[in-house]
Amino acid sequence: MSRPEHTRTNSTNLNPGSRARPLEGRVGIVTGASRGIGAAIARNLASKGCNIVLNYTSDSSTSVTEELAAELEAEHGIKAAIVQANMGSENGPQHIVDVAKNHFQHPKTGKFEIGIIINNAGVAGNNPIEKIDCEQFARQYNINVRGPLLLIQAALPYLPHDRSGRIVNLSSVSSSLGP
Ligand SMILES: NC(=O)c1ccc[n+]([C@@H]2O[C@H](COP(=O)([O-])OP(=O)(O)OC[C@H]3O[C@@H](n4cnc5c(N)ncnc54)[C@H](OP(=O)(O)O)[C@@H]3O)[C@@H](O)[C@H]2O)c1
Repeated sequence: MSRPEHTRTNSTNLNPGSRARPLEGRVGIVTGASRGIGAAIARNLASKGCNIVLNYTSDSSTSVTEELAAELEAEHGIKAAIVQANMGSENGPQHIVDVAKNHFQHPKTGKFEIGIIINNAGVAGNNPIEKIDCEQFARQYNINVRGPLLLIQAALPYLPHDRSGRIVNLSSVSSSLGP
């Protein structure tokens, strides 16, 4: 029996030096984008032409996130907005979408679409079972699990309906560790 034909989806990982910008004009939200993996993802998306909303939470990360936004705009000719919001709070995710809309809604047509959501913000306690308390559990759960749900709910009215949108939820090997 012959194997069914396999069709490979085009990768957006372009060769270095490639000038193609497959995400030109789109809007992407990256949570936890002040540093680490989130900042790297934001750089990657911006290099492909994507306008970016950079979320972070700590006061101490404001200046570094502002610098990242300025870097992305200068290097890639995109628009970048920053938004300080706690993904673990009930209102933080909605605030991110509100700021994104304020920045990227078309002034005349009112059109606003969120093409990409990267749920990257996350915290890990990695404590043994006997050392986990309710407060710590709630904090971790609210940031890592409830936050992405609330962000997607808030973004729902603005997601594309042609299957062109992408939502990426980052996990960790930590979730499979334990006694
Ligand atoms: N690093 C790894 O080896 C690894 C491995 C597997 C999975 N991951 C996952 O990848 C993601 C990023 O990891 P990372 O190592 O790059 O993290 P990181 O360097 O610790 O950075 C965390 C980012 O999340 C933000 N953040 C933390 N709490 C937040 C909150 N309540 N609301 C909004 N933003 C918040 C931080 O903002 P501030 O700067 O404002 O604090 C920062 O931008 C996490 O989900 C992590 O679980 C990481």
